[in-house]
Amino acid sequence: MRAVQVSEYVKVSPITRHRQSFLYTKYHTRSNLNPLPPKQTPRKSKTNKPIHHYRAPLDLKTTEVPTPTPSPDKYLIEIHSAGTNFFDILQIQGKYQHQPPLPWIGGAEFAGTIAALPTSSASASSSLKYKVGDRVFGATQGAYATHVLAPESTLLPVPPGWSFEDAAGLFVTAPTSYGGLVHRAGVKEGDWVLVHAAAGGVGLSAVQIAKAKGATVIATAGTARKREIAKEFGADYVVDYTDKAWPEIVKKLCKENRSGNGAAGVDIVYDPVGMIEASLKCVAWNARLLVIGFAAGSIEKVALNRVLLKNVSIVGLHWGQYAKFETGTVGEVWKGIFDLVAQGKFRGTAFKDESFFGLDSVPKALQALGGRETWGKVVVNVDEKAKSKL
Ligand SMILES: NC(=O)c1ccc[n+]([C@@H]2O[C@H](COP(=O)([O-])OP(=O)(O)OC[C@H]3O[C@@H](n4cnc5c(N)ncnc54)[C@H](OP(=O)(O)O)[C@@H]3O)[C@@H](O)[C@H]2O)c1
Repeated sequence: MRAVQVSEYVKVSPITRHRQSFLYTKYHTRSNLNPLPPKQTPRKSKTNKPIHHYRAPLDLKTTEVPTPTPSPDKYLIEIHSAGTNFFDILQIQGKYQHQPPLPWIGGAEFAGTIAALPTSSASASSSLKYKVGDRVFGATQGAYATHVLAPESTLLPVPPGWSFEDAAGLFVTAPTSYGGLVHRAGVKEGDWVLVHAAAGGVGLSAVQIAKAKGATVIATAGTARKREIAKEFGADYVVDYTDKAWPEIVKKLCKENRSGNGAAGVDIVYDPVGMIEASLKCVAWNARLLVIGFAAGSIEKVALNRVLLKNVSIVGLHWGQYAKFETGTVGEVWKGIFDLVAQGKFRGTAFKDESFFGLDSVPKALQALGGRETWGKVVVNVDEKAKSKL
C-alpha cells in the first residue's frame, strides 16, 4: 500500500539562540507553519548546545509499505479520504504528546470501506457491527495511507448520503462541539451563543449545533471569507474579532436585540482560541464559557473576580478523554449528532476552496491548514479516482 511514512526526524543543529528564537517564531507558530528552509547554515551556539528542529510538512514523502494483514481484533479499512488536524503537524515535527516509535504513518482521521474483518474467533462475523464493503469513518494512527487497521470502537457508519470527504472530518469536530454545547453548557432554545473562530473545524460544527438547538449565534472570524462561511452554515450575526472593539460589538448586538439579563451579553461562549478573558466583557448573568482549545497559541490566565461578579461558569471539555472516563456519554453524543444529520440540521464541513487529491497532496494540505488559510475541515482525497469523477 502507499503511505505517508515518517521514518526519521531531520535535525538541524547547532544554531545560535537568536536563530533558535527566530525560527521558533517564523516556523513554529500556528499562523506560519512553513517548512524549515532545506539547508541550514550551521552556526556556533553561545552555549554550543545543539538545538534540534524537526521535519516539517513539506518534507513528507509518500512511500510503498506492506499492506497490513487482517488482525485478530481490527478491521482492515481501505481509506478514501483522510481529515487533517493541527496535531498531525505537531506529531510530524516530533512535538506531540503521542509520538509512535519510528517509522510511523501520519494522520488520524479517515473515511473508507471495510476491506477485511477481524480474524479472531471471538470476533465471529455474527457479533461484528460491520461487514466487508460497509462505509465507515473513524480515527486511529496512520490515516495518511491507502489502508489502515482499526478496532470497532474507533469506527462509526458514514451517514446515508454523505461523501467520504465530509465523513473524514466528522470524528473529532462534531462530538467536541456537541459535547461542549449540549452536555457541558446545556444549550437551549432562546440562548445566545458566541462562537469564536466560527469558520474553523470545531467552530463550524458549533455554529450548526447551536442553531439546531434553537439558539441565536454570533460568530467571530478573522477574515471576510471566513465570516461569509460562518453565515452560510447558519450564524445569525458575524463579527470581525481582529477588531479590538469586538466585545463592544457583541454587547451592542445583545443590547439591541435582547431583553432582561440577556441585554448584557451572550449566554454561552464557545472558545477554541483562548479568548475567555475578553469574552467575559460581553456575557449575561449565569453565562457558561466553554474552554475548547488554544489555537492562538497561549494558555490564558483569567481574573476570577469577573467570574464571581457576573455569576458565570468557565467549563472545560476534553472530548478525547470521554472514551476513558465517561463512555456512556460518547454514545449519547453520537446519537444526538446522527439525529441532527437525519433531520438535515448538520452537514459536512469539508473545505471546498481548494481540493487535495492523492497522498502526495498531504504536505500541501497540512501546510494550508497550518497557514490559517482554510476553513472547516481540510480533507485529503486519498482515492485519486475521486478526482476523475468530478
Ligand atoms: N477540547 C477538545 O476536546 C478539542 C477537540 C478538538 C479540537 N480542540 C482544539 O480546538 C482548537 C481548534 O481546533 P480546530 O480543529 O477547529 O482548528 P482549525 O480548523 O485549524 O481552526 C482554528 C481556528 O482558530 C483561529 N485562530 C485564532 N488564532 C489563531 C492562530 N494564531 N493560528 C491559527 N488559528 C488561529 C482561526 O480562525 P481565524 O482565522 O478566523 O481567526 C482558525 O480557523 C485547537 O486548539 C484544537 O486543539 C479541542
